[in-house]
Amino acid sequence: MVKICCIGAGYVGGPTMAVIALKCPSVEVAVVDISVSRINAWNSDQLPIYEPGLEDVVKQCRGKNLFFSTDVEKHVYEADIIFVSVNTPTKTRGLGAGKAADLTYWESAARMIANVAKTDKIVVEKSTVPVKTAEAIEKILAHNSKGISFQILSNPEFLAEGTAIQDLLNPDRVLIGGRETPKGQKAVEALKGVYAQWVPEERIITTNLWSAELSKLATNAFLAQRISSVNAMSALCEATGADVQEVSYAVGKDSRIGPKFLNASIGFGGSCFQKDILSLVYICECNGLKEVACYWKQVIKVNDYQKARFVNRVISSMFNTVSGKKIAVLGFAFKKDTGDTRETPALDVCKGLLGDKARLSIYDPLVTEDQIRRDLSMNKFDWDHPIHLQPPTSPASIKHVSVAWDPYQAAKGAHGLCILTEWDEFKELDYEKIYESMQKPAFVFDGRNIVDVARLRKMGFIAYSIGKPLDPWLKGMPALA
Ligand code: UDX
Ligand code: ADP
Repeated sequence: MVKICCIGAGYVGGPTMAVIALKCPSVEVAVVDISVSRINAWNSDQLPIYEPGLEDVVKQCRGKNLFFSTDVEKHVYEADIIFVSVNTPTKTRGLGAGKAADLTYWESAARMIANVAKTDKIVVEKSTVPVKTAEAIEKILAHNSKGISFQILSNPEFLAEGTAIQDLLNPDRVLIGGRETPKGQKAVEALKGVYAQWVPEERIITTNLWSAELSKLATNAFLAQRISSVNAMSALCEATGADVQEVSYAVGKDSRIGPKFLNASIGFGGSCFQKDILSLVYICECNGLKEVACYWKQVIKVNDYQKARFVNRVISSMFNTVSGKKIAVLGFAFKKDTGDTRETPALDVCKGLLGDKARLSIYDPLVTEDQIRRDLSMNKFDWDHPIHLQPPTSPASIKHVSVAWDPYQAAKGAHGLCILTEWDEFKELDYEKIYESMQKPAFVFDGRNIVDVARLRKMGFIAYSIGKPLDPWLKGMPALA
């Protein structure tokens, strides 16, 4: 029986291993983590992350061929294949601060593997890492090998949150990079054998190590770049009277471009896009490719611009101030169907509104009040000025934040309502009822283009949606900075 161990029971490690266990009954999978609370949660009825379909898969396999444990060393010792799926945040201090990936967790995992291993191991990079990380890891392992053979593979994960299980069950491709030596190729074949149990062979791509590492960063950069492109267009649409949804539909009909990832929004969030682009920028700079670095950096700059533009639009529409006004915020997660708030654009929008002294009432179906308060009071790293931290929301401003249990309560007595996450339930709300309960004039700012603004305007709302022809009311408002 092949034994797999995955170090790191997070958003990537947990779901990926659960699906491997489901599809490969003859493989024993152990997911290990240093966080006791995370492992306890994986072993309970309340899994530490929400992912449609995940609970089902875990329940089918847990205790049979899927185990969650804090006994990291035991499972590493026993495993034939070790996936490393630890966090790789952006460095916040020292060399490369603001751009380079922080490989502290990776390095400590590699040293631990070298210490514990007594038999040959295949070590698989699962977390996104800068190109050539495998080389560094190889060195750590080789210098501590005591005669054991370690083969490093890069097998980046392309799952998206909210659709992780579907993405894993039916991936566009599985990418495996390895050394072009006989031992390296044997390791590639071994890992391929695991995926081949459910993924058609033509979708399993094998490459050299560096191509696999770079493909992951490149994919995320391309995806994020599409969003910044359509968001940049949304600003131009508002200025000219074009409709960004019509434009992106027409553009997406070109089969060379395709329709996906062209929804204008308040900006992209999530744990990957910004981090991976910063990492890409850093690699370019380290290789003397200044123009290439600038090109990719601009994708993040446009993303920040889009968030700031939204905040400015809200404030300028409401007579240039939201001071003391109640604003209902619908949605705080970085996208629908997840409770994850990492790099959520909602946080920057909320901070912007609080900066103008708004009173916020926030509702999100999955994000807890604790999480919202924690996010607002945390120092946020300022990627553009690496020695600075954006200040946390001041205690005085935090007093102006309340968290509501339902959207109607959030909207009651509010002057304005901002939709910041595209939850399906926000499409179906009784907006007549909401209108009645709000101060007049009542404003809606749809940051995800999910509601029918024409219908809302008929009800009496002054309604704004990203990249759409402006409400006649807003046309008279001063130009945005
Ligand atoms: C992303 C990649 O899609 C995935 O392949 C990779 O493994 C991890 O990073 P994820 O962060 O889970 O996945 O979310 P994704 O669905 O890509 O969305 C990222 C952000 O872009 C979200 O904030 C989303 O709301 C936003 N987005 C997405 C848009 O604003 N417009 C779009 O058209 C698509
Ligand atoms: P991702 O989204 O990439 O899965 P997460 O932050 O959700 O990232 O998960 C990474 C996990 O890795 C965390 O639960 C963290 O506790 C765990 N981790 C980090 N370093 C180690 C280590 N040396 N040994 C075991 N687990 C680790």
